[in-house]
Amino acid sequence: MNSISITNMPELSFDVQEAINQLRINLGFTGESIKVIMVTSSVPNEGKSFVAMNLWKNMASVGNRVVMIDADLRNSEIRNRYGFVCETGLMGIEHYLSGKTEINDSFYMTDIKNGFIVPVSTNVIDPTTLLESYRLKQLVEACRKEFDYVIVDTPPLGSVADALNIAKLCDGSLLVVGSNSTPRKAVNDVITSLKRTEKPLLGIVLNRVDTSRKSSGYGYYYRYGGYGQYGQYGKK
Ligand SMILES: Nc1ncnc2c1ncn2[C@@H]1O[C@H](COP(=O)(O)OP(=O)(O)O)[C@@H](O)[C@H]1O
Ligand SMILES: [Mg+2]
Repeated sequence: MNSISITNMPELSFDVQEAINQLRINLGFTGESIKVIMVTSSVPNEGKSFVAMNLWKNMASVGNRVVMIDADLRNSEIRNRYGFVCETGLMGIEHYLSGKTEINDSFYMTDIKNGFIVPVSTNVIDPTTLLESYRLKQLVEACRKEFDYVIVDTPPLGSVADALNIAKLCDGSLLVVGSNSTPRKAVNDVITSLKRTEKPLLGIVLNRVDTSRKSSGYGYYYRYGGYGQYGQYGKK
C-alpha cells in the first residue's frame, strides 16, 4: 500500500481536543451497526473537513483502524491544507471512480498509526455522475470490510445533491453547523433532506462556538467545550 505523509496536521487546543474526544465517545454509543459515518453541513466552510479529519485522527489514536474517504470532489482542500506528501504520486478517488485505478490503489497509509485515507488528487468540476457510479458503493463496501470505521467527508448538502447520494451508502450522518453563522432555515432544510435518505442523523456538531462569551443556564451548556462542541440533539 502506498503512503502519504501528513505534514501539516495542526495541534488542537485542550478544549477542542476534548470536544472531539466526546464526539468519538458519543458515536461509540450509537451501536456496532454504525461504521460508515458521513460528515456534512448545509453550506461550505462550516468545518466539515476539520471535524472529519480530527475525528478520524482521534479514532485512530485510540486504536481503531479508520479510513477517511474524501468525497468532496468539487472542492477538496484537505490535500493542501493538511500538507499531504506522497512520493509515489497521488492517485485519488476520482481516478478510481472513473475506472483508471482499482480499489486497492485508492487507499493510502498515513504517518498516523491506524489512520488510512482515500484522497482526492485533482478536483472535479462536475462529479455527480462519478459519485452515482456503482464503483463508489464498491469502495464503501470494501472499506466497511477492511476497517473499524469509515469517515466520509462530503460536499455541503445545501448546494448540490451529491451528498444525498453518498448518504445512502453510509450508516448515518453527522451534521456540522457553524455557530452563529448558519441560518436556521438552512439547517432545517438539510435535516429534512437527510430524513429522506432514511439513514439516521447521528448528531449535530455545533462548530466554532465562541467560548469567550458569558452565558448562563441551558445556553451555557451548549457552549461548553469550545470549538468542535458536540450537541446530540439530532439523535434519532
Ligand atoms: N473548530 C475549528 N477550529 C479551528 N479552525 C476551524 C474549525 N472549524 C473549521 N476551521 C477552519 O475553517 C476553515 C473552513 O473549514 P472546513 O473544514 O474546510 O469547512 P468545510 O469542509 O465545511 O467547507 C478551514 O481553514 C478550517 O481549518
Ligand atoms: Mg471541506
